[in-house]
Amino acid sequence: MLPIVTIDGPSGSGKGTIAKLLAARFGLRCLDSGALYRLLGLAARQAGTSLADADRLAEIARSMRVEFEGERVLLDGVDVALEIRTEQAGNAASKVAALPEVRAALLQWQRDYARAPGVVADGRDMGTVVFPAAGTKIFLTASAEERAKRRYNQLNEKGLSANLPDLVAEIQERDERDSNRSVAPLRPASDAFLLESTSLSVDEVLKQVVGQVLKAYPELAEKGGPAG
Ligand code: C5P
Repeated sequence: MLPIVTIDGPSGSGKGTIAKLLAARFGLRCLDSGALYRLLGLAARQAGTSLADADRLAEIARSMRVEFEGERVLLDGVDVALEIRTEQAGNAASKVAALPEVRAALLQWQRDYARAPGVVADGRDMGTVVFPAAGTKIFLTASAEERAKRRYNQLNEKGLSANLPDLVAEIQERDERDSNRSVAPLRPASDAFLLESTSLSVDEVLKQVVGQVLKAYPELAEKGGPAG
């Protein structure tokens, strides 16, 4: 059975970090679905398209060429990994992501990404919409303040400037939009493992997630060893 692990949760909950570590540990592919919406926001800006023009955005979503190569994220052959990580790009992503036409246009690409040897997919609707049959579903949360702090450190590490109170406000605004949109709202799948990580270290979160993965896919133990 092809291992499919989904990690959903709000902005800054640490999904991306955990997904990457997990994928590396078990030798699985890693799908950063948020990057797709960020790339679309960027492609729309480059094309001078309004973030509300659903039909045109869906067309761009279908035609843009996306490649993930390690740390590099290529949009039509150009590495834009850094450009799509800004808060501005995150906000544009959250706007285009609220459009059903856009989500429909990106659905198959995401499902096709789940090829051998398996995938760890992080996002908002991985367990509910994109991979409803995934064997392991994690829903990772943390308080808005803690998530803003993590985002702040992440941006600083990348040499991008940030302001903590602004980040808290932006994260809350994004949560609100992601949770209340009509299509694929941010919500745990009914069979997801809920993990509250406000006071947990990355290692502690990873250990619990590894435990969940090995329960569903014991054959992966040979690749990544037991938790701990
Ligand atoms: O996870 P990340 O912050 O990169 O996602 C950027 C935005 O893309 C989110 O705020 C959310 O609106 C949207 N998104 C989504 N569904 C996903 C992943 C991201 O709607 N599966």
